[in-house]
Amino acid sequence: MKTKTLLAGLGLCLLAACSTSKDEFNVDKALDYCDTQVHRTLTELKGNDGNIDYTMMPRNIMDSLTTWHCRKATKDEWCSGFWPGILWYDYEATGDEKIKEEAEKFTSSLKFLSETPAFDHDLGFLIFCSYGNGYRLTQNPEYKQVILNTADTLATLFNPRVGTILSWPRNVEMFGGHNTIMDNLINLEMLFWAAKNGGNPYLSDIAIAHADKTMKYQFRPDYTSYHVAVYDTLTGDFLRGCTHQGYADNTMWARGQAWGIYGFTTVYRETKDTRYLDFVQKITDVYLQNLPADYVPYWDFDDPSIPSAPRDASAAAIVASALLELSTYLPVEKATEYKDAAVKMLISLSSDKYQSGKSKPSFLLHSTGHWPAGSEIDASIIYADYYYIEALLRLKKLHSNQSVI
Ligand code: GLY
Repeated sequence: MKTKTLLAGLGLCLLAACSTSKDEFNVDKALDYCDTQVHRTLTELKGNDGNIDYTMMPRNIMDSLTTWHCRKATKDEWCSGFWPGILWYDYEATGDEKIKEEAEKFTSSLKFLSETPAFDHDLGFLIFCSYGNGYRLTQNPEYKQVILNTADTLATLFNPRVGTILSWPRNVEMFGGHNTIMDNLINLEMLFWAAKNGGNPYLSDIAIAHADKTMKYQFRPDYTSYHVAVYDTLTGDFLRGCTHQGYADNTMWARGQAWGIYGFTTVYRETKDTRYLDFVQKITDVYLQNLPADYVPYWDFDDPSIPSAPRDASAAAIVASALLELSTYLPVEKATEYKDAAVKMLISLSSDKYQSGKSKPSFLLHSTGHWPAGSEIDASIIYADYYYIEALLRLKKLHSNQSVI
C-alpha cells in the first residue's frame, strides 16, 4: 500500500476517533426517515391510477401546501436530476431493488440531455446527480456514455478567451457580457470525471481554468462571493460582480457561498492542488463564523430583516455534505472542527423544526429558492433533500472509515 493511502486511512481513523459526533447524532434513524419519505413520495406520484409519469420530477412543496409540485424534465428545468439522485442514494442506503428500479426509470427520462445542444450550464447538476450516481452504483455502460456525451455538450459553453463556462447563454444581453454564476462550480465534477473515464483530457483543463478564474474574480477580499461574475466576451476581462438570487450585489447569498464551498472541495479532490485546499478553508470560515446558533443560515447573510428573514436549509445541507468530504483532506484539528460543524448542521436539519415529518413527503422544510423573484420562499425544495441524504450517507461512511465519495 502506498504511503499516501496509508496516511489518508490514518486520517480517517483519527477523524472518526476524535469526534464525539458519532454518539450525538443517530444517522441511521435519519436515513430511515428519508426512506419513509421516499416511499410516501412514490405513492403520491403513483396517484389514483397507480401509474407514474417518469418525466415529471418533484420540485417543491410551498409552505402552505402538503403535496409535491412536479415539473417536466425539459432542457430548462435545472432541478430534474435531484429526484433520481435521491432515489439512487436511498437505494445505496437500503439496498431496496424496487427503489433501484424507480431510480432507473426516472434517470432515463434525462437521456435526451446527452443528445441535444446545451441550453445552459446546469448539465452537471442534471446528469451527474442522476446518471453519475447511477453509474457509481451499477457500472451500467450506457450510463457512462450518457455522462461522457453530456460532458462534451457542457464543454461547448466554455469560452477560452474568458476561461470559464458561460452559465446562462440566454442572459448575456441582460448582464452585458459572458456570465458565470457560482453554482456553475458544481458542474465541474462531471468534466473531471469524464476526462478520467475515457473522455477528452481537455475537459479537465476546462474545469481547472474555470476554477482558477472563479477563485480570482468571484470572491471579495473577505472571501464572500458574488453570485454572478460578468466578463467581457472578447477580451475575457472581469467587468463586475453582481447578484441574481441574493439580496444585493455585495451581500453573501447563502447558497452561492455553499456552492463555492462544495465546488472548491471537489476541485481540490480532483486536482490535489493545495491552492484550492487553502482557498476553500477561507471561504468556509467566513461562512461558519457568520452562522446563526443552529448552523442553518438565513437565506442571505446580509438581509437587513434578520432575524425575521427566511432560512435556507438547502445551503445548510450542501455545506454539511461538503464539509464531511473536506474534513477528510485536512489535519486532525481542522478536520474535527469541520466535521463537528457538519454534524451540528445535520442535527438541526434533523430536528422537528426543519424536518417535514408527517406533514409533507419531502425530507426538509425551510429552504429559499429565489427570494428576489419571490419564488420558493420558506419551502421544501428538492435539492435540499438531495444534499441532505448525500450528507447523511457521507457521515455514515465516515463513521465506518470508508471513503465518502
Ligand atoms: N442553481 C440555482 C440555485 O442555486 O438556486
